[in-house]
Amino acid sequence: MGRKFVVGGNWKMNGNKAQISDILKFLEAGPLNPETEVIVGVPAIYLDYVKSNAPANVQVAAQNCYKADKGAFTGEISPAMLKDIKVNWVILGHSERRQLFKETDELIAEKVAFALESGLKVIACIGETLEEREAGKTEEVVFRQIKAIADKIKDWSNVVIAYEPVWAIGTGKTATPQQAQDVHKSLREYISQNISPEVAQSIRIQYGGSVTGANCKELGTQSDIDGFLVGGASLKPEFVNIVNAK
Ligand code: 13P
Repeated sequence: MGRKFVVGGNWKMNGNKAQISDILKFLEAGPLNPETEVIVGVPAIYLDYVKSNAPANVQVAAQNCYKADKGAFTGEISPAMLKDIKVNWVILGHSERRQLFKETDELIAEKVAFALESGLKVIACIGETLEEREAGKTEEVVFRQIKAIADKIKDWSNVVIAYEPVWAIGTGKTATPQQAQDVHKSLREYISQNISPEVAQSIRIQYGGSVTGANCKELGTQSDIDGFLVGGASLKPEFVNIVNAK
């Protein structure tokens, strides 16, 4: 009935073997709430290592993948390769992919569809920039980002949405619980009207953007916030507190 709380740690392009072994130690020590799903998003080169060494209650995600099984796509990794090393999740459409690497709504939607068809679970990221928020375009932007995906997929059961307002990422400027809740609620209404009421009811929507051990509890009390996608704080022991926010 209820949506299972899901907390992801997006390590981005951070960590080396020594740091990663420290992270695995605090994840191992936990304790992590067994009612919460925990996923760490790992740089590609360390995926196999983390998959082999992470505690069983911590799942592993890639931070990106391409929309083909194999071929002449220098520098890319495929869903099939992820499956081969037993990595079951991928983060797609992060705002850093959108902004720095010019990934479009269309490309992201194609990647989401291909990853799902390949049997991966997907954390699909959406969110508005500060400029878009100040122009009153938050809903327009996040609805457009969801629609691009909805045009390409039918089954949402293996999708988690991460709402990450770009202005809150890495800035220490967290959305207030009310600001986050408002967007999550609007997203659920949009999904109910344009996809299905069942999907709206069951899909989990994470909040991401400067989530810390200090602000996670209050954010987690909001009825439409079903977890977090955590950047900076996921590299630190306080990540355990964020996992246990609920
Ligand atoms: P920060 O938690 O560092 O703001 O990053 C959020 C994020 O981008 C997670 O994907």
